[in-house]
Amino acid sequence: MYSVGLTGGIASGKSTVADLFAKQGVTIIDADVIAREVILPGESAYDSIVAYFGNNIVGNDQLIDRAKLRQIIFNNPEKRIWLEKLLHPVIRHRMIACSLKASSPYCIHVIPLLIETLPHPEINRILVVDVSVETQIKRLKIRDNLDKDMIENMLQAQISRKERLAHADDIIVNEGDLVTLADAVEKLHEKYLRLARG
Ligand SMILES: Nc1ncnc2c1ncn2[C@@H]1O[C@H](COP(=O)(O)OP(=O)(O)O)[C@@H](O)[C@H]1O
Ligand SMILES: [Mg+2]
Repeated sequence: MYSVGLTGGIASGKSTVADLFAKQGVTIIDADVIAREVILPGESAYDSIVAYFGNNIVGNDQLIDRAKLRQIIFNNPEKRIWLEKLLHPVIRHRMIACSLKASSPYCIHVIPLLIETLPHPEINRILVVDVSVETQIKRLKIRDNLDKDMIENMLQAQISRKERLAHADDIIVNEGDLVTLADAVEKLHEKYLRLARG
């Protein structure tokens, strides 16, 4: 299965771009969606996380409180790395399994931390959604209503824009409106169809 890895900084527009590819009929495999699935009760990662972080990470609904978890790991690199080491292989394995079942000519893996977690042998090509830090902060504020400290922490936890772009095979600059974005996706879709055909 020809696989395009879609990445970009937080609030750069990855989900928006993925939706546009989905409208073209492309199968989207989203690491964030899979990451939520693998920590559900009954999954192996659930027990490991509760054992490591303690019962206070579990809500009344027995689900792992993701907001609480996020808060803890953004203030504690050691715990963040522990969690990443646990989850990344599990998530990757499940994403590959999904792509093998996909029926579209190629598929898109949405992986926010794609560059941070290289190498990715399952990915044929890297597509980066790029925005300025100013646009990123503006859209992040609107979407998530986060405070300034949280936003700074989130941005600092990610690699720089420059470093991400250095790994890109394709770049979508998402500074324009949604029509411009849809045009860029359509062009890339044609290109990926050709590449997938070989
Ligand atoms: N071209 C655009 N113009 C205006 N708003 C946009 C544009 N692209 C994305 N957004 C908005 O910015 C926010 C972040 O986009 P999103 O796709 O959720 O980013 P990501 O998935 O990379 O975190 C969302 O609220 C989205 O609707
Ligand atoms: Mg998203």
